[in-house]
Amino acid sequence: MAVDVLLGLQWGDEGKGKIVDVLTKEYDIIARFQGGPNAGHTLEFEGKKHVLHTIPSGVFHRDVLNVVGNGVVIDPVIFKGELDKLIAQEPDVLKRLKISRKAHLILPTHRLLDAASESAKGKKKIGSTLKGIGPTYMDKTGRNGLRVGDIQLDNFLELYDQLVTKHKQLLSGYAGFEYNLDELEPTWFAAIEYLRSLDIIDSEPYFHTNLAAGKTILAEGAQGTLLDIDFGSYPFVTSSNTTCAGACTGMGIAPNTIKNVYGIFKAYCTRVGSGPFPTELFDTTGETIQANGREFGATTGRPRRCGWLDLPALKYAININGVTELMMMKADVLSGIGNLKICTAYKYNGEIIDHLPYKLQDDLIEPIFTEVPGWDEDLMQMTSEDEFPETFNSYIAFIEKEVGVPITLVSVGPDRAQTILRK
Ligand code: GDP
Ligand code: IMO
Ligand code: MG
Repeated sequence: MAVDVLLGLQWGDEGKGKIVDVLTKEYDIIARFQGGPNAGHTLEFEGKKHVLHTIPSGVFHRDVLNVVGNGVVIDPVIFKGELDKLIAQEPDVLKRLKISRKAHLILPTHRLLDAASESAKGKKKIGSTLKGIGPTYMDKTGRNGLRVGDIQLDNFLELYDQLVTKHKQLLSGYAGFEYNLDELEPTWFAAIEYLRSLDIIDSEPYFHTNLAAGKTILAEGAQGTLLDIDFGSYPFVTSSNTTCAGACTGMGIAPNTIKNVYGIFKAYCTRVGSGPFPTELFDTTGETIQANGREFGATTGRPRRCGWLDLPALKYAININGVTELMMMKADVLSGIGNLKICTAYKYNGEIIDHLPYKLQDDLIEPIFTEVPGWDEDLMQMTSEDEFPETFNSYIAFIEKEVGVPITLVSVGPDRAQTILRK
């Protein structure tokens, strides 16, 4: 009867994929509502690791349906690659996958435009995953985009040519940017043929009918709140609404159908790509967190920048999304690193503030930290909160008190089984 939304409260990679997989058994349908192959959602179970980019993380559960919603942007080549891998392990996966007719398509020229734009920006580059996300959403809002439903039209090739002609004009504005589209198009068109054979649906009535029939839906966010196009650290953001409102526009569901909003955050912070990061660590502690947490991008392999937990940013994210329950990830990574710091406010232009300022610029912001004792125990081996060391319980209590929302789930390792529900 209701939709629950699960989303990241930081700069992405909070562990959304793992938790969606853990929660899937409670739902009938899992849906992605925004982003595209810039996402990398990691799931681990039975000794195997899986990384999903466009396909919802409920896909390993055989009696649950997975929908790629209208707000998602799809690169057919990456999508086919993901499915080829999945089918090798889950032969009937296509039976439980549906794709919205209104999802937009990433063309090879969108990827080229992404690359050209980033290289033209030089030092000011966003640090994009170069999957063509920005240019595809630009065409969507510019009302030029191609959608999945268009591949079922007789004049699809004509529509494709019209858009590519525009893109070629844009690319000619980037002096010295060379490309060979002829090399990219055959694979793309082969993947389009494949996409055509899949279950393409009008996803919004599909959700409505299922909700009316009493089914439960979990909406799976990609990226994180601080990468949201409106509310993130603009311009160092992605091009979609990663926040709860994005589930409404990216699935066609009404706000009052949303019940629980699960906000996922790491016990520290990470960021991949450029942009401000007030609590970033540049010392050996940061290196230890990066190494212990295996903080390397699931999509690009780039090292993730690491820093302390940032509560003003977390509170902001909780408010934007209406988070009802918090889920804390990767506290196991902090074991044995000594005292921990938590940012509770910022010094900004000589003033103490406890909110995110408009100009989130590292040289203007100085985080104010509270130091708390850490823990040495290996949380990864624990199976119930009764085993948690006292200092870890205090860390949890400190955060809950500051933000006013309960932490109902604690993840202590990458595996599905390393998940502890709190009473
Ligand atoms: P997502 O994009 O939010 O789904 O997150 P990613 O998959 O990009 O990154 C999270 C990484 O942390 C993955 O490698 C996960 O396997 C791993 N992970 C998730 N939860 C935990 C945890 O509680 N502890 C540890 N050590 N690793 C975790
Ligand atoms: P998941 O879903 C972390 C970052 C990129 C870059 C910025 C813009 O796995 O959490 P884009 O390719 O969207 O133009 O890149 O956003 N970014 C992510 N960072 N996790 C992600 O997804 C990300 N998707 C995009 O690094 O800084
Ligand atoms: Mg990720």
